[in-house]
Amino acid sequence: MSVANMDIRPVTDLDVRGLRLLVRADLNVPMQDGRVTDATRLERFAAGMRPLLAAGARLVILTHMGRPEGDMDPTYSVDKLRPLLSKAMGARVLFSDISCGQSAVTLSESLADGEALLCENVRYNPGEEANDPALAAQFALLGDVYVNDAFSCAHRAHASTEAVARMMPACAGPLLMEEIEALTTALETPTRPCVAIVGGAKVSSKIAVLRNLVQRMDTIIIGGGMANTFLFADGCNVGRSLHEADCLEVVAEIRATAKDAGCRLMLPHDVIVAREFAAGAAWEALPAHACPEDAMILDAGERSTRAF
Ligand code: 3PG
Repeated sequence: MSVANMDIRPVTDLDVRGLRLLVRADLNVPMQDGRVTDATRLERFAAGMRPLLAAGARLVILTHMGRPEGDMDPTYSVDKLRPLLSKAMGARVLFSDISCGQSAVTLSESLADGEALLCENVRYNPGEEANDPALAAQFALLGDVYVNDAFSCAHRAHASTEAVARMMPACAGPLLMEEIEALTTALETPTRPCVAIVGGAKVSSKIAVLRNLVQRMDTIIIGGGMANTFLFADGCNVGRSLHEADCLEVVAEIRATAKDAGCRLMLPHDVIVAREFAAGAAWEALPAHACPEDAMILDAGERSTRAF
């Protein structure tokens, strides 16, 4: 289905005064030693929420942080985001140390118009990543309307992104709408020449995206772990690099489709390799086909970056 034909209701169409909006955000910001090292995500989210708060909405915010997989590991607590959110949204923000359960519901019901409640990491709940309907039903008690504003998690069928949206009126947040509009333009009425940059670890999880893009783009730059799989398919030595040795047929198919569609695929010619994936590890720049057996490709090299 084309995104232009999807029936998506933006939250900005609603009269939100007095409504408890259960907003799924992606506040999975990078942290080091308990401090946020880049608050861009949080600030962009807050900018979209400010007009809703000014219009009298009551926000109940759900987010994940890291991958604690159901363990309540304090490293992944989102409590340290509360003051940053409060400042960025210009609003009072309460904190609930659970994201489902009676005390969270009570706090959500105590909100005044223009106030927000930040709930603890949804991935502390074992049912979150299992898309557990019982957990989603608990989340649904926290709001009157569900708002998905987490584009970067929208591909995951988790309790706070998928199951809950089926249990209550649901709509799209400002950031999600912005991404949908940008994607619609890029895919349906692109300004040519148009280039897509595709990265991530796995070709296998992005086959459908790649098949689609090669029909629409003039050039696709392939980076991240995916580039290693393409290099491996071309017979390059990739050493211990992240790659999928069983994806050779998929790579061949994508190359053939790209050729038929007149889409140029660009891969790195030179790469940065290291023996370990760690800050400060010794690295060297090598041709893409020359990764030593005991090393890993961790980035595109300078020549490739310039060419891209
Ligand atoms: C991200 O940082 O890419 C998103 O928050 C999704 O995180 P995840 O890959 O752990 O689901």
